[in-house]
Amino acid sequence: MLRQNADPSAALPHPSARTAHAPGTPVPHPNARTARAPGTPVRSGRDDNSSKRKSLIVAGVMSGTSADGIDVAVVRISPRRGARAGRPGIELIGHRAFPFSKALRTAVLAAMDAKSTSTAELARLHWRLGMAYAEAVRATVTDLKAAVDLVGCHGQTVYHQGVAQPYAGRSVACTWQLGEPALIAAEMRVPVVSNFRPADMAAGGQGAPLVPLLDYVLFTDTKRARVLQNLGGIGNLTVIPAGAGPERLIAFDTGPANMVIDALMERLFDRAFDKDGRVAARGRVLDSVVKAALRERYFAMKPPKSAGREQFGAAYTERFLHACERAGGEPADAVATAAALTAESIRMAVERWVKPLTGRAAVDYIVAGGGARNGTLMRMLRERLEPLGCSVRTSGDSGIPVDAKEAVAFALLAWETWFHRPGNLPSATGAKRAVVLGEICYG
Ligand SMILES: Nc1ncnc2c1ncn2[C@@H]1O[C@H](COP(=O)(O)OP(=O)(O)O)[C@@H](O)[C@H]1O
Ligand SMILES: [Mg+2]
Repeated sequence: MLRQNADPSAALPHPSARTAHAPGTPVPHPNARTARAPGTPVRSGRDDNSSKRKSLIVAGVMSGTSADGIDVAVVRISPRRGARAGRPGIELIGHRAFPFSKALRTAVLAAMDAKSTSTAELARLHWRLGMAYAEAVRATVTDLKAAVDLVGCHGQTVYHQGVAQPYAGRSVACTWQLGEPALIAAEMRVPVVSNFRPADMAAGGQGAPLVPLLDYVLFTDTKRARVLQNLGGIGNLTVIPAGAGPERLIAFDTGPANMVIDALMERLFDRAFDKDGRVAARGRVLDSVVKAALRERYFAMKPPKSAGREQFGAAYTERFLHACERAGGEPADAVATAAALTAESIRMAVERWVKPLTGRAAVDYIVAGGGARNGTLMRMLRERLEPLGCSVRTSGDSGIPVDAKEAVAFALLAWETWFHRPGNLPSATGAKRAVVLGEICYG
């Protein structure tokens, strides 16, 4: 699937010449000749600057809410013409994962807990993460013997509030990703696109999810409906009805995926996660706790909606654990119950918001993210989704390793930004228009 369009004639010789520029020589932007005058609105169609697009090798860098570490994917992205112009070709060259050290993971988790951090701590972490990203990209590129032209780095979200709330006399939505991109640009000597979410929010969107563009590019199908489910710290899905254009898909966060499981594992078993779902497999699901937990307001909210540690972090886990204890659960039962909450909240979301869109079409339910490795969670999902007409598989079956997909998405978004094209799908984020995402650090 990933090699769908690799057209060697479209590939340029690697323009590493860029890195050989004399110090101080500005890197030419591919759109330099067409640069719009300040104040000229960016056209919002997905065809902007199509003719300027070129094949580039891009490293996508992701570190998600699980705070488990950094995923780097190196891909060749090539333009396609005509009816397929909106679906560039993506060829995975390779990917690598870099777990955070214990000290860095502790710092990241502390920064996500707004009550226990300080400005100095956040500033240091911003730079420390930038170093970690730079090292991860360098190590991946060296290992793969690749040479990258561009990097897209999502950064580490420490706070995300997609829906505006009163603050200092106004209604404010906000998002914040850490990881200083200048450090990556300095290490790699190529431009780095980062800070992808704010432009969507400034256009009235929730800043998330941004992976749907990749989902659409890789998975849209004329006959089959496709649901792309990611199981990271948070679960999110993209629905692409059979034959739908990007304006007809929907995407939203389903709720916790691994976040509560991980927190319980840490607390009850002193382990970062439930490897392969073994603990959940020997636990008993406390149905009454799942039922009560599903009454949480988030699950009933209509999409678009996004969630994070703000909703399902430490305080939520604390309440969840107490409920399990009150129901007479053992530690393994709490972990099994958290997995069941993930599966059940996804089933509810599919029934309410997915099935009405996909109708009677066969649905391929394609799972990615670290949770795809949790055998118990995957079994629970199959048991609930197969009766709804979904055939459950992983993205690995389509050629994208489950750990690489989000990193690939940020490589694609960086490529779109570099060529001045929008990366958000308003149907997914709720934005008023499609906009060019991110900020570019030229290094
Ligand atoms: N072998 C495994 N068995 C069970 N769960 C796993 C396994 N590998 C990864 N995970 C889960 O996946 C999470 C990381 O998934 P990831 O997709 O990186 O999420 P995020 O984007 O939030 O960082 C881990 O915290 C863990 O809960
Ligand atoms: Mg991760």
